[in-house]
Amino acid sequence: MSEAAETRALVGGTWTGPDGGRRFPVENPATGETIALVADTGPAEWRAALDAAEAAFPAWRERPAGERGAILRRWGELLLRDRERLARLMTLEQGKPLAEARGEVAYAASFLEWFGEEARRIEGSVRPAATADKRLLVLPRPIGTSVAITPWNFPLAMVTRKAGAALAAGCPMAVKPAEATPLSALAAGALAVEAGVPAGILSVLPTADPVPFGTAIFADARVRKVSFTGSTEVGKILIGLSARHVTRLSLELGGHAPFLVFADADLDRAVADCVASKFRNGGQTCVCANRILVERSVLAEFARRFAAAAAALPVGDGFAEGVRIGPLIDDAAVAKVLAQVADAVAGGAEVACGGGLVEVAGRTRRFVAPTVLVGVGPDRLCCREETFGPVAPILGFDSEAEAIALANDTPYGLAAYAFTRDAGRAFRLAEALDYGIVGINDGLPATAQAPFGGVKESGFGREGGREGVREYLVERFVSWRP
Ligand code: SIN
Repeated sequence: MSEAAETRALVGGTWTGPDGGRRFPVENPATGETIALVADTGPAEWRAALDAAEAAFPAWRERPAGERGAILRRWGELLLRDRERLARLMTLEQGKPLAEARGEVAYAASFLEWFGEEARRIEGSVRPAATADKRLLVLPRPIGTSVAITPWNFPLAMVTRKAGAALAAGCPMAVKPAEATPLSALAAGALAVEAGVPAGILSVLPTADPVPFGTAIFADARVRKVSFTGSTEVGKILIGLSARHVTRLSLELGGHAPFLVFADADLDRAVADCVASKFRNGGQTCVCANRILVERSVLAEFARRFAAAAAALPVGDGFAEGVRIGPLIDDAAVAKVLAQVADAVAGGAEVACGGGLVEVAGRTRRFVAPTVLVGVGPDRLCCREETFGPVAPILGFDSEAEAIALANDTPYGLAAYAFTRDAGRAFRLAEALDYGIVGINDGLPATAQAPFGGVKESGFGREGGREGVREYLVERFVSWRP
């Protein structure tokens, strides 16, 4: 493992463990090798982190917004300074191709730059009163101590997307990274300290068992806000836990993105963006194209070109030159993806490319070939449950109305995509698709400047954009008779 990797937890301002204490292994998904033993925090560390956050909160919240912003922007610059080291660490623990990991470091830094600037734009207002003797003020105030539970698929960018917003708003944050990928979050924590984030304002708390962590933080009335990225199943449990102290939540949950291709679309662009959307991080993103809906008159041509592009994507260890599809995160992910393929084939789908495991350096266990399935029924597993792997089912439609109905026929509502040259149709789709994010002729819409989040069972709350900061603010109404 890289010597520079931090394996201690950041508890308040203090680095603790793992020497002599509880530790848990982190595995390289490409090889199965243990790459680090990381501090396994428990209730004592979680309490200490929240104590430190509460102690540091008043000074941080009163600090001029420009100063908070400058620290965040410095943190982002440090990520870029260490881009190569961070990218290598990410590929090591998460498996994504190194080029994508470099891209994620830049993506992570962009949130710190954005929120560093937004800190100065947190504004209140004065409202006209009904009577002459009153002045009505609306003051945005930081909500208080916050907690982030971050996912393994974007181990760095989801930390900065949450912490950047919280710290800009004046809130402390304790981050619990995913068990599979704590090293990127710990490295980010070390750079936050270097950038000048005060002790207690950011903690990073790896733990091998997330369940007691969740129970503990929702049992602590001092935690006023929890931001979670992960499965819908876990999100629903957190909604239940949040009732105890009426903790505010942001939930970025599962997705099942439809990718609509109309006959009037630029097919080259549609194919290229569909490949980019579907196979980013090996299909392990919440916004990946999950059902590809193509107007029947161009279906055969689209499927031919798309399958050819997918089949050409090199599969392998994320460190190998040119690799576009790395390993899946664990054995359960592989089993789920293969079960979806088998189910689609049992339902009559044709395998246009891929369909199974690929051998890489004598190992097959985590490497799944980019797979395109044509003629999949809308009731098959891959059209119902999230895939989180490199499997692309293609379905046909005959009209705009049918495409919209198929696209919205899911409990999820995170991202949707539509490719068409008809501006009127583009606008109709932007309004009719029941999703938090709609990419029109754009397979990769996510960016720091815009709100990211879902509707329906994909969750609520927004990250990024000016909306991201609001998640950590409360509007205090002051009625003043001067
Ligand atoms: C996610 O899939 O969880 C995040 C994807 C993104 O930010 O683009």
